[in-house]
Amino acid sequence: MRTTVKLFKDLSKMLDFYSQFNPSPLSIKQFLDFGRKACERTSFIFLRKELPVRLANIMKEIQLLPDKLLAMPSVSLVQSWYEKSFEEILVYEKVDASDLKTLENFCDRLIKIHNRHNDVVPTMAQGVIELKEVCQLDQQTEHSIQYFLDRFYMSRISIRMLINQHTSLFGSNLNGHPRHIGCIDPNCRVTAVLNDAYENAKFLCDQYYMASPDVEIVENSGLDPGSPITVVYVPAHLYHMLFELFKNAMRAVVEHYGSSADCLPPIKVLVSLGKEDLTIKMSDRGGGIPRSLTDVLFQYMYSTAPKPSVSTESAPLAGYGYGLPLSRLYARYFQGDLIITSAEGYGTDAIIYLKALSDEANELLPVFNKTSTKHYRTAVGTHDWSTPSLHPITQPLGMRQFTTLNHKRRIAFR
Ligand SMILES: Nc1ncnc2c1ncn2[C@@H]1O[C@H](COP(=O)(O)OP(=O)(O)OP(=O)(O)O)[C@@H](O)[C@H]1O
Ligand SMILES: [Mg+2]
Repeated sequence: MRTTVKLFKDLSKMLDFYSQFNPSPLSIKQFLDFGRKACERTSFIFLRKELPVRLANIMKEIQLLPDKLLAMPSVSLVQSWYEKSFEEILVYEKVDASDLKTLENFCDRLIKIHNRHNDVVPTMAQGVIELKEVCQLDQQTEHSIQYFLDRFYMSRISIRMLINQHTSLFGSNLNGHPRHIGCIDPNCRVTAVLNDAYENAKFLCDQYYMASPDVEIVENSGLDPGSPITVVYVPAHLYHMLFELFKNAMRAVVEHYGSSADCLPPIKVLVSLGKEDLTIKMSDRGGGIPRSLTDVLFQYMYSTAPKPSVSTESAPLAGYGYGLPLSRLYARYFQGDLIITSAEGYGTDAIIYLKALSDEANELLPVFNKTSTKHYRTAVGTHDWSTPSLHPITQPLGMRQFTTLNHKRRIAFR
């Protein structure tokens, strides 16, 4: 077959076509069952349709972003990567799926696409920074961007999952873990991933503060007491979440007690397996977070850490404000969740929920449709609960009476 990429003149027509289809979510069990039988041709036939569908669904949402954000150089760059990758996969739309050379070619192409998109997260983040540098964002724009980034990064996680499965099962580089099916571990030992994440976060923490808290892990397997807890999962995803949570917990503890403290309270982790959920609760005594900040914790770029300097050679412990929102996406990707509860003055509990059963762990994917479109178009509604007035006492009495009267009248009309 022809390997040069045919440029589709009518890209937008193809985008319209593929975005009409809803993405097909797969469960971890389906990934696993398929991976065990591993037919390259079937995978190729599925992906040559599913990848353009997932790409087109999110590319249509990119187009709905505020014009001022689309005009930012980093956002244009990301958009150009998506267009190129979309076109490159469309080349395989109608080719003969029984030709071995085609299959080999497709696999190589997927690796190239995967690499092209390596820097999508920081580049898109840079685009938002560029916009904030040139103008002040109103509430509607902030809302659209937060809504978009959650969906955009989730779509990216899912596309990379599909590509990783195919290339690790059928690519030439077969040096993955012998137990793994693609990037899924059918017997993922949760404490092993926890220890790995702890050690790497500790390394950064020691480098930055010259001190770090210990960890204490307790396992509770309700179904099979005493046996080590395993789950069918993508270890890389679990590692990502735990590493981010450990970094946050360590920073909070060391800053709360001071790095020269004689003894830092340990971070306690409970791993509990039930019939439905696998729960990982990480508790620190880092002084907690005020309740009023609970919502902003998951906003992209919310951080109380100093901005990491670009010149430092080691990875920063904190500072971009992407740790929590991205980790929550990883948790939600297979129908889990990540929540933060805190006792201000004492410490924080970060809880990861994962589905215990692999057939319930279905991908959660953004779908482009009228409902999603509305989020970019409709203005954020006005408050329908009272908001505290700034100076109630200094307000003239007549005005206060008027507000009260008005309110009562509204109630009477209901
Ligand atoms: N365990 C915790 N205790 C106290 N504050 C926390 C804890 N976890 C998160 N936070 C607060 O939430 C903020 C956002 O956390 P998040 O992990 O998203 O970003 P970050 O740690 O600042 O930067 P990075 O993107 O490098 O992770 C932190 O800056 C911190 O103020
Ligand atoms: Mg963090």
